[in-house]
Amino acid sequence: MNVLIVGGGGREHAIAMSVAKSKKVTKIYCAPGNAGIAQIAECVPIGAMEFDALAAFAKEEEIDLAIVGMDDPLVGGLVDVFEANGIRAFGPKANAAILEGSKAFSKDLMKKYHIPTAAYETFDDADAALAYLETARMPIVLKADGLALGKGVLICNTLEEAKAGVKTIMLDKQFGSAGNHMVVEEFMTGREVSVLSFVDGKTIKTMTSAQDHKRAGDGDTGLNTGGMGTFSPSPFYTKEIDAICQETIYRPTVAAMAAEGRPFKGVIFFGLMLTADGPKVLEYNARFGDPEAQVVLPRMENDIIEVMEACIDGTLDQVDLRFTDNAAVCVVLASDGYPVHYEKGKVMTGFEAFDGKDDYFCFHAGTKATDEGIVTNGGRVVGITATGADLKEARAKAYKATEWIDFEGKYMRHDIGAAILEA
Ligand code: AMP
Ligand code: GLY
Repeated sequence: MNVLIVGGGGREHAIAMSVAKSKKVTKIYCAPGNAGIAQIAECVPIGAMEFDALAAFAKEEEIDLAIVGMDDPLVGGLVDVFEANGIRAFGPKANAAILEGSKAFSKDLMKKYHIPTAAYETFDDADAALAYLETARMPIVLKADGLALGKGVLICNTLEEAKAGVKTIMLDKQFGSAGNHMVVEEFMTGREVSVLSFVDGKTIKTMTSAQDHKRAGDGDTGLNTGGMGTFSPSPFYTKEIDAICQETIYRPTVAAMAAEGRPFKGVIFFGLMLTADGPKVLEYNARFGDPEAQVVLPRMENDIIEVMEACIDGTLDQVDLRFTDNAAVCVVLASDGYPVHYEKGKVMTGFEAFDGKDDYFCFHAGTKATDEGIVTNGGRVVGITATGADLKEARAKAYKATEWIDFEGKYMRHDIGAAILEA
């Protein structure tokens, strides 16, 4: 099989590595890819939003399966374009990717189908939002409606902060047109857990759990980022909680999408809060998480191509999804100044230390191959993942491996998975 992966981050590197293990695959292409993906796939310089060029390339190279990993092209309808051109594609169509693309849509869906989530109101008018906030309980959460690189969420502790937040989102449009509509929701407390799942339109099979660390600094300080590190599994995601989620969240979500005439095929990522009132949905994503994929996929035992084909064909009920009984930790090495301002083009060293080790992974996110060698090319540069018998061992190994890679301005969080070990 010829496979085309669309995207070029750490998640796509993790997907490419899983795809490379499949016996069914002869050739992997990645558009646009990065320096790490280039070691296992042929990277082609086509951007993820260049739909016509991607479809033309897929026809030309006789691609048997296209895998779309990123939110923007999914929400924009890349899977629809591939299908219209006769190319099999893994991922939701635009009418289902809206589950991630619009927070107002997903909140209304949860309300209509009684799926537990924070209480909320939606606004398309700043004055109405401001009037509502006057009498609302603080803290409160403001969310720009559309995609905002995971940054369109403001947690406001006081009325003043909330008013300033309305200005940021709806008037100053700091998150662009995502701020034309805004969701205001109840602040929930509890432990967060991410659960990824494969879905074929009617059947859902969940993967092992994971947890992200979204803030830039140690101790959950600093700005929100795309994710600074993950671990899997989450010890707080017990069998009992899983049973509740299957019953009240996962199956109802898939059934709701089907009932709305928007059958979801692909990956649903459930961002959950384990509250005192039970598990509730924080957010849905319509794709693998980044860097959740970097700790979940190395633990998956199935042939990923077989699972993806079952999602497309509607035969997921026949798949026995299996994960190794171990743990994984991913620590992101970022460029100093991320997520605001950072430099690119710093020469990187130490990659050879990962050669020949099947329990250590260096997933490239923002890297580029140049004549001087591999250089940094983004805020999140690489995700260093290690697997181990348990979280403690995986964590120690991952942090040891962060020392192998070096570049000017390298920074990371030092507490990925630390709170779990203390608890
Ligand atoms: P989201 O992009 O919706 O996952 O939001 C980003 C982060 O904001 C989440 O991972 C949570 O830590 C936090 N968050 C979002 N919604 C809420 C909420 N209703 N209550 C408390 N924290 C929230
Ligand atoms: N790590 C969070 C996300 O992929 O949205």
